[in-house]
Amino acid sequence: MKIVRPNKIRIEVTPPPCKSISHRLLFFTLLEKGEYEIKNLLKAKDVKRTLDFIKNLGILVSSTEQGLILRNNRLKEPTKVIYCGNSGTTARIGMGICSSFSFNFFLDGDSSLKARPMGRVIEPLKKMGAVIYATHDNTKLPAFIRGRKLKGIKYKIPVPSAQVKSSLILSSFLSKVESEIEEVLKTRDHTERILKYIGAEIITKNNKIIVKPSRINNFSLKVPGDFSSASFWITLGVLHPDSKIVIKNVNLNETRTFYLSILKKMGANIETHLKIKEPEPEGDIYVSSSELKPIRIGFSECSKMIDELPLLALVCCFTKGESVIEGAKELRVKESDRLKNTAKVLRRFGAKIEEFKDGWIIEGVDKLHGAKVFTYKDHRMALLSICAGLLAQGETEIKGWKWIEISYPKFIEEVKRIYE
Ligand code: S3P
Repeated sequence: MKIVRPNKIRIEVTPPPCKSISHRLLFFTLLEKGEYEIKNLLKAKDVKRTLDFIKNLGILVSSTEQGLILRNNRLKEPTKVIYCGNSGTTARIGMGICSSFSFNFFLDGDSSLKARPMGRVIEPLKKMGAVIYATHDNTKLPAFIRGRKLKGIKYKIPVPSAQVKSSLILSSFLSKVESEIEEVLKTRDHTERILKYIGAEIITKNNKIIVKPSRINNFSLKVPGDFSSASFWITLGVLHPDSKIVIKNVNLNETRTFYLSILKKMGANIETHLKIKEPEPEGDIYVSSSELKPIRIGFSECSKMIDELPLLALVCCFTKGESVIEGAKELRVKESDRLKNTAKVLRRFGAKIEEFKDGWIIEGVDKLHGAKVFTYKDHRMALLSICAGLLAQGETEIKGWKWIEISYPKFIEEVKRIYE
């Protein structure tokens, strides 16, 4: 696929439904018998894995004009291997769920997912009494799980991970036991926030989450737009010299929107208008061309915007001066090594970016130039390359752009509207 920079950007977009919330609402249908409705579910490959996961366990799914009706009548043991594809969220939250039902499960994934660390979730689940046999000394997929009722746990998760937190919350909920889970740094809180809204007894205080034995109500909920997908438009809006972009109906949960705070600190012209508060804040974002200053950030800031860091690296290329992003070693174990690959991609566009063990040093340049780039089988690298291509002078060719299907399949369709 080839891209050239548009002269100006005037566009109103609605980002795709939130990936994290889509996964969670699907998993929640396993918690209690009854009928659920999910409106505006993300139609993308990762979420399809979770949909297949719950169907394999016996959830009956039918479509309506608005979305999906999901029935939990009688759950059953899956008759085949549960394939999680590229989706870390399906695998990690799924492991907690499998560990707590009295069935046997085999979980597997694609080559990227099989290389990603699973010990961070297997270890606490085993402390709760889970029976899990995973390859590489119980740290990687494929894994076999013999589900059973688990014990409660008091546990501080050593790495900031919303997937691990959610896995432990849901396994405690399903086993009807009390658990106290603590985070080193607060991560996205969709699981605890929405569970509380639908009736679960969950107490949250600072970085602690206490799960009590309780029940949830059947629900009908609509998924708001994805903040991380909206971030590609936010980035284009601040970096393109002649832009005005309105991004509609975006999830504005403050455990997700730290990228906005950092951009504002760098001098970005961004406004948000909150329209809905519960269960998840939702509103519109207005972005326009901005003059930005360089920035220095460390571990705690990086953790609050982990999925947006490759975009921040692109932003730093357009500032005057040196930016330092450190404390981001978690990027090495995402769908690809994003520390290495972001630097590789941006360098091809002429960026001055140096990778070190847990971050980058980036020296702003006057402009980027068109390039031929690869996407390393990683959706966020594909989306980053498209954004860089839309900002660079000259033509850009992207090999492997189809990886956008993991989280934002319609991005190219939306981008084409800029030129209309
Ligand atoms: C996610 C949590 C984050 C994030 C991922 C989605 C989630 O991963 O990077 O894209 O939906 O819980 P970690 O839990 O590994 O930090």
